[in-house]
Amino acid sequence: MIKKFNHVAIAVKDLARAKKIYKEILGGDVSEVSHYKNHGVSVCFVNLGNTKIELMQPFGSDSPIEKFLLKNNSGGIHHICLEVDDIFKTRDHLLKNNISIIGDKEPKIGAHNKPVLFLHPKDFFGTLIELEQE
Ligand code: CO
Repeated sequence: MIKKFNHVAIAVKDLARAKKIYKEILGGDVSEVSHYKNHGVSVCFVNLGNTKIELMQPFGSDSPIEKFLLKNNSGGIHHICLEVDDIFKTRDHLLKNNISIIGDKEPKIGAHNKPVLFLHPKDFFGTLIELEQE
């Protein structure tokens, strides 16, 4: 089921500033910003060869990371993303094992144009997990 570490996501209040710091101070290879209306986030990626850092900021009025930023004033690690070989098989297996999947339990197209699911942090020791089809 889980195969590779894909990325760690950090929620920020000011994406332009975060992007600048990762690029200019840390010398990172940072992508352009994309806006995802259906996920309520603006995102850019810091490419690190073997993995990525996803920097994300709320987009639109009803962003799922708005509350997180109220609780974490300077931003913070929001989720980790793991790749799976078959997201539908994995979903069915998790549901059979009483793992809570956030939302309507149907994989949605994520920031890499691949289907993703989010697993509830209460089942994973306080960590929100994104699963992405490899
Ligand atoms: Co992500």
